[in-house]
Amino acid sequence: MADVLVVDDERSLREFLEILLAREGHKVTVAEDAVSGIAKLKAADFDLVLTDLKLPQGSGMDVLRHVTESGADAQVILMTAFATTENAVEAMRLGAYDYVIKPFKVDELKVVIERALERKQLRRENTQLRETLDAHRAQNRLIGSSEAMREVFEMVRKVSGAKTNVLLTGESGTGKELVARAIHNRGPRAASPFVPINCGAIPENLIESELFGHVKGAFTGASQDKMGLFEQAEDGTVFLDEIGELPLHMQVRLLRVLQERTVRRVGGMKDTSIESRIIAATNRDLAEEVREGRFREDLYFRLNVIQIRLPALRERHADIPLLARAFLAKFAEEQASDVTDIDDGAMAALVQHAWPGNVRELENAIERAVTLASGPVLDLSDLPQAVAQAAGPRTRPRVERVEIPEDGVKLEEILESLERGYLEEALSRTEGKKKRAAALLGLSFRSFRYRVAKLGITAEDGDGDGDGDGN
Ligand SMILES: Nc1ncnc2c1ncn2[C@@H]1O[C@H](COP(=O)(O)OP(=O)(O)OP(=O)(O)O)[C@@H](O)[C@H]1O
Ligand SMILES: [Mg+2]
Repeated sequence: MADVLVVDDERSLREFLEILLAREGHKVTVAEDAVSGIAKLKAADFDLVLTDLKLPQGSGMDVLRHVTESGADAQVILMTAFATTENAVEAMRLGAYDYVIKPFKVDELKVVIERALERKQLRRENTQLRETLDAHRAQNRLIGSSEAMREVFEMVRKVSGAKTNVLLTGESGTGKELVARAIHNRGPRAASPFVPINCGAIPENLIESELFGHVKGAFTGASQDKMGLFEQAEDGTVFLDEIGELPLHMQVRLLRVLQERTVRRVGGMKDTSIESRIIAATNRDLAEEVREGRFREDLYFRLNVIQIRLPALRERHADIPLLARAFLAKFAEEQASDVTDIDDGAMAALVQHAWPGNVRELENAIERAVTLASGPVLDLSDLPQAVAQAAGPRTRPRVERVEIPEDGVKLEEILESLERGYLEEALSRTEGKKKRAAALLGLSFRSFRYRVAKLGITAEDGDGDGDGDGN
């Protein structure tokens, strides 16, 4: 059963459609001109609108335009006399679902209606699906069993009941926002708003009005009073994300607010007391920022009453299998995929990878793997190359960070000395057995011998495995 609106000035056609649609089980409303059609649309929700193109007091285009502009999600079918098919095509471009040419065959009309309603249904299902997924996402659980994460959970538990300011630190993707939400959700403020603000993402000239609001006319463009985030949060939580990005003059303003626990809107005269709790987060080293003069020490002390440091993922390899499986389950469900497991080789690679992007990077890698997987069990070939390479004994050592001094470096010399180091170490480890040394370095014997000669490394011949022409 669908709610259908029929707009046509021809009475016989209105009645005909009313009977036809009612017989199909739909609920029908009729209107005889554009203005009353639009009035009906304003008064109720419809699944489908069948409208004549030529109408008294406007046209079917006005009806269509009303539907698309009001964001109503009714499907619109235009009915038009042959002479005006061009307009009908234009209407499709403007978002009509289809058009039928008068006089139409009943069967033809029925098919068009049926398809339009099917599409409507599909849309609704998609929206519902998305909402369910969002809800799942929102209650994202904090996962971890490592000692480091247990300490984090313990802290979350302890601070969630208090009103103290909390500072969350840790690299990007370690879960700072998730922890902030957990603190909020587990505490007495759970029913009040959690208001996040990314201090690094708001243009400098707008931060103040975002945080504290403004009154009408406070500056050009302030066309009406606006509530700031502190007021919006009521007695909930304000989450100041990327606090290290806050410009110095705003740090001064924020400090005053935290000290006095009142805010005043930009251009306003009245102070409003704030009840919300403050949780701040940063991936910078704020103490260092203070030393460098980029962050105010007094504000730092005020925010840093309790600090929770989120360990990097590479400091808690033990959590990786748990996280990987949880993400696998999540994405398999979201994508209606039949991937159910991760094989040992892939898991080993996941555990060994250094994860510079931390949990977020792991989450993305699993999402990608689930999408690309060729079978029900993820293997090495499903992982991003950088991760897959972490597996196995042949891993290149990770150069965590290179430094290039002001006056540059000589790359050839650096590489040569690295090469020499590896060659000599391999030879000494194999007691001069060149074939084994070559294998240890993943080189052919020929290439190994060439490199040794090139660098003038003198190796005592190991027993037995000589200088024969290895491969
Ligand atoms: N312990 C965890 N358990 C489950 N999911 C986690 C965990 N930690 C992080 N995540 C997930 O990893 C992603 C990144 O987490 P979050 O956004 O909280 O990181 P962040 O520290 O705020 O990063 P950034 O500094 O880049 O903003 C999110 O999708 C989050 O759900
Ligand atoms: Mg974040």
